[in-house]
Amino acid sequence: MKILFIGDIVGSPGRGIVADRLADIVETRQIDLVIANGENSAAGFGITPRIADELFAAGIEVLTGGNHIWDKKEILEYISKQPRLVRPANFAEGNPGSGLYVGAARNGVPYAVLDLQGRVFMASNDCPFRAADRELARISPEVRVIFVDIHAETTSEKEAMGWYLDGRVSAVIGTHTHVATADEQVLPGGTAFQTDVGMTGPHNGVIGMDKTAILHRFLNGQPARFEVATGDIQMNTVLIDVDETTGRARGIERLRFRTD
Ligand code: FE2
Repeated sequence: MKILFIGDIVGSPGRGIVADRLADIVETRQIDLVIANGENSAAGFGITPRIADELFAAGIEVLTGGNHIWDKKEILEYISKQPRLVRPANFAEGNPGSGLYVGAARNGVPYAVLDLQGRVFMASNDCPFRAADRELARISPEVRVIFVDIHAETTSEKEAMGWYLDGRVSAVIGTHTHVATADEQVLPGGTAFQTDVGMTGPHNGVIGMDKTAILHRFLNGQPARFEVATGDIQMNTVLIDVDETTGRARGIERLRFRTD
């Protein structure tokens, strides 16, 4: 079974490349399941119900979130009704939505998607490692294919999560830092891992944002309004091949698509 995971979709340029290219990629690569991180899809900050629907219509089955998931208030109501949009499972109790989605892929294979958020240099949420234990215990043993998005700031916390879940899930892929790392591998227990998948959007900027405002903030320490960058639109993804009978990954490949 082939799973495509699309890195953090940033603003309309990120949504645009997904709309233009995804259907063709799914067909030519014979992909059974598409998952994407969508928490930056509304102008870089959050996601709206309309954008989530648009991304689902483009062929994405499950959207994951992270620290920006609540940036657009309308999503609070939407997420409680749309289980295919998940937010980190280790957010405080009482938040709407869920960190876990269990469904069936277009080839009929059941799968689960788990969203977690790191704590180093981020908000002090519940422990993502213990949250992973708790959520994995809720998944029926018939569900062998399990995908985990670890949305975290540091490489160390993401690597640690890969080792912690090795042999228990099919893949642990990092998001949030928006720069793809070159460490894709299948860990000894059969878990596909990459520290960060990279982002989907304009690369002629600073992690997707217009560089002028970012540089102003770095140089002067003054607040600046961040706008989505333009130019060098890329879609950074990983293609994971999973043995659906065991849930073990057979391979992981980094795939980068560009508009030109
Ligand atoms: Fe993030």
